[in-house]
Amino acid sequence: MTEIRHPLPHDLPGIYDICLVTGDAGSDGTGLYANPDLIGHIYAGPYAVRHPEFAFVVADEHGIGGYVLAVPDTRAFEAWEESEWWPALRAQYPVGSAATDADNALVALIHEPERIADEVLVRYPAHLHIDLHPRLQGRGLGRVLIGKALEALRGAGVTGLHLAVDPRNSGGQAFYPRVGFTGQERVDDGPIVFTIEFG
Ligand SMILES: CC(C)(COP(=O)(O)OP(=O)(O)OC[C@H]1O[C@@H](n2cnc3c(N)ncnc32)[C@H](O)[C@@H]1OP(=O)(O)O)[C@@H](O)C(=O)NCCC(=O)NCCS
Repeated sequence: MTEIRHPLPHDLPGIYDICLVTGDAGSDGTGLYANPDLIGHIYAGPYAVRHPEFAFVVADEHGIGGYVLAVPDTRAFEAWEESEWWPALRAQYPVGSAATDADNALVALIHEPERIADEVLVRYPAHLHIDLHPRLQGRGLGRVLIGKALEALRGAGVTGLHLAVDPRNSGGQAFYPRVGFTGQERVDDGPIVFTIEFG
């Protein structure tokens, strides 16, 4: 049975696992990092903890099989991360303290998180991440999860949403226009930013 629901605290290990197995531009990042937790600390954990009401997980008999993790106000979320999420992680992982270069690149993001431009946030203040385990990809679940996140954000009065896609992730780039994202922009060699404005 496949169930879609808001995340609970006991889902966090499964959510972190999905983040890792999709963590190399949509492909398995397991072999990429010595520390399997770091990527989830950045792209998954704070979302599920701060905004479970805008997050949905897919659960089946194997455990957590995927998620959509959304925040309605990116700058407010970043401020919460600064006071509640990053301090303990910055203490645990000083800059350059990890075992490999790839891990240290993630540690650097813990100390200096990526920030999307103000011009994008004016129209598209929300953002999200969506990832499904390979066993559940290509079955329409991504479309369902995006629909649920958009419905929750719209219901909260959010006016627009953006998300960033790694240029190497061709699957992600094919997916977003199919599920309602109308804007697409890339500045210099940064990520591809997809956007959707709520009517
Ligand atoms: C990208 C992802 C979320 C899409 O979810 P999904 O459940 O596989 O996609 P769906 O089955 O709901 O497909 C919805 C539409 O997108 C299209 N689509 C999805 N993945 C695609 C791909 N890799 N290539 C081409 N089209 C794709 C489908 O054909 C479908 O179009 P249609 O309904 O018009 O026929 C999922 O495949 C995934 O988690 N991939 C790995 C992690 C990842 O890349 N996450 C995004 C990071 S930005």
